[in-house]
Amino acid sequence: MSTEGSTLPKTQTSLLEGKVAVVTGAGGVLGHAIARTFLDNGASVVITDISGDALAAAVERLGAGEKVLAITAGVSDPDAVDAVVAKTTAHFGRLDIWVNNAGIARDATMKKMSIEDFDLVIDVHLKGSWLGTRAAAGWMREHGGGAIINLSSISGKVGNAGQTNYSAAKAGIVGLTKAAAKEVGFAGVRINAIQPGLIESKMLDDMPPEVQESRKKEIPLGRFGTPEEVANIALFLASDLSSYMTGNVVEVSGGRHI
Ligand SMILES: NC(=O)c1ccc[n+]([C@@H]2O[C@H](COP(=O)([O-])OP(=O)(O)OC[C@H]3O[C@@H](n4cnc5c(N)ncnc54)[C@H](O)[C@@H]3O)[C@@H](O)[C@H]2O)c1
Repeated sequence: MSTEGSTLPKTQTSLLEGKVAVVTGAGGVLGHAIARTFLDNGASVVITDISGDALAAAVERLGAGEKVLAITAGVSDPDAVDAVVAKTTAHFGRLDIWVNNAGIARDATMKKMSIEDFDLVIDVHLKGSWLGTRAAAGWMREHGGGAIINLSSISGKVGNAGQTNYSAAKAGIVGLTKAAAKEVGFAGVRINAIQPGLIESKMLDDMPPEVQESRKKEIPLGRFGTPEEVANIALFLASDLSSYMTGNVVEVSGGRHI
């Protein structure tokens, strides 16, 4: 896999000094990069994942001591999601940023896709993001505002064959982001979405090398993105740099599918 262009300077600023962020699915590649970037920018971070093992490994890799709180929680379980808000605010006293990042893929053509795999992907991505957005916005609107960031995908913009479940969920997240932004903007709660393209991750590793090469030819910047390049946009959307943005969808795709 190419690593060209992945040598970005590490951001080390105070954009999120004193802020408290929740990142779901932080046992995975993008969630970990987002948590790392937020920590590097002064935030305390609550990392959640359905996998206790992935979470334990993430805590160790982050090595940030008291600035990290890990909570095992599934994003499709309303009680578990509400409990993350309650535990975060009890532990750190505030909640400023919430990133709906957890995800799974169950790819198959419509002909072969089971109803269970359709439901599961919608449940984790769309219902999970709705539950997270509802719970976080519910707290933020009563406490001076905040920023919510939803991980959509370029797949939700253009539709990918073999991903009718995933593309539908990721397009649904765009609608959720815009509708929710309209409901809670008055209270200073901003909600934006990110649509990553092909990022160096397990998803890409699972792709045969010849498919990777043909996909790369579709990318104007000529390379895959790095998790840090997605995390930097999450940082921008989480911070006051984007204070007049809500309901936006930011593509991080190297220009693929523009
Ligand atoms: N990697 C890419 O190229 C890419 C591109 C576009 C969008 N995205 C999106 O970015 C997000 C992160 O992707 P990634 O590549 O880091 O994936 P990943 O598989 O590395 O990490 C996902 C994490 O989510 C966790 N998870 C799964 N189901 C969960 C649930 N029900 N509750 C809580 N946690 C759960 C997993 O245990 C895992 O740790 C996903 O929403 C994905 O759809 C990724």
